[in-house]
Amino acid sequence: MKTAVVTGASSGMGREFVRQIGYFYRDLDEIWVIARRKERLERLAENSRVQVRIFDGDLRKKPVYRKLYTALKEEHPDIRMLVNGAGFGKSGTVEKIAGEDPKIQTDMVDLNCRALTRMTLMCLPYMSAGSRIINLASAAAFCPQPSFAVYAATKSYVLSFSRGLGAELQKRGICVTAVCPGPVDTEFFTVSGALNSPLKKLTMAKAPQVVHQALKDSRKRKALSVFGLPMKAVHVGTKLIPHGLILKIEERLSE
Ligand SMILES: NC(=O)c1ccc[n+]([C@@H]2O[C@H](COP(=O)([O-])OP(=O)(O)OC[C@H]3O[C@@H](n4cnc5c(N)ncnc54)[C@H](OP(=O)(O)O)[C@@H]3O)[C@@H](O)[C@H]2O)c1
Repeated sequence: MKTAVVTGASSGMGREFVRQIGYFYRDLDEIWVIARRKERLERLAENSRVQVRIFDGDLRKKPVYRKLYTALKEEHPDIRMLVNGAGFGKSGTVEKIAGEDPKIQTDMVDLNCRALTRMTLMCLPYMSAGSRIINLASAAAFCPQPSFAVYAATKSYVLSFSRGLGAELQKRGICVTAVCPGPVDTEFFTVSGALNSPLKKLTMAKAPQVVHQALKDSRKRKALSVFGLPMKAVHVGTKLIPHGLILKIEERLSE
């Protein structure tokens, strides 16, 4: 059974992947979707052209992995694509966020890094030559960010993990793409806090376009998918300019 597995499928880019994957993989039998909001996943399933199987649950907790483990063992799916889309951010200084919610930043590490790694390890034995992994990193992965410090660090992990894993899996013909967009218009900002940077507001992208680009880049076996000219410029800039200097500029801009 040819399957795609998508985490974070109840909204934003994850949901968009579910909507678009069927057009890129015409012979998919099922898409397995994971997120906490079951009713959202049910609505997505009703409108999907590919059969959708729902695994509702919190990726920071064990039960959803048990359900997935059982399904994998019983069905031995041929996983053609894994999209690790679940993730969240929280803006503010590390101390301010910790004062408001002492657990949320470690929860962020658990979801953005640990859950993504765990999902990858669970799915890999069911992937073969031509399969693809798409990991939602962020342009925040390119350099440290004050007032988004933990989030940017988790995304640097995702980018580094994706590139290292991609190099390892080349021999098996499995391609790993890290998707690194700038701001994308999704529910992300309901959780992270509203955008107050005019520059970020100006470069806000649309989820369908970012996802379309990511699927095209994955098909071309690219290790990195960076949407739009502004973020491509940011990517080059963060390679050329020392990060100490970028941090100073970022501090100035936030004053
Ligand atoms: N939007 C941006 O500006 C932007 C830019 C760069 C990268 N990204 C990254 O892209 C990915 C997708 O973000 P998005 O913009 O599409 O945000 P979104 O609309 O808020 O979607 C986040 C998804 O993650 C799921 N999720 C959150 N916590 C979860 C948990 N504990 N267990 C299982 N699922 C969980 C949510 O589902 P439930 O709430 O139903 O569980 C939702 O489906 C994230 O990794 C984000 O860091 C976003």
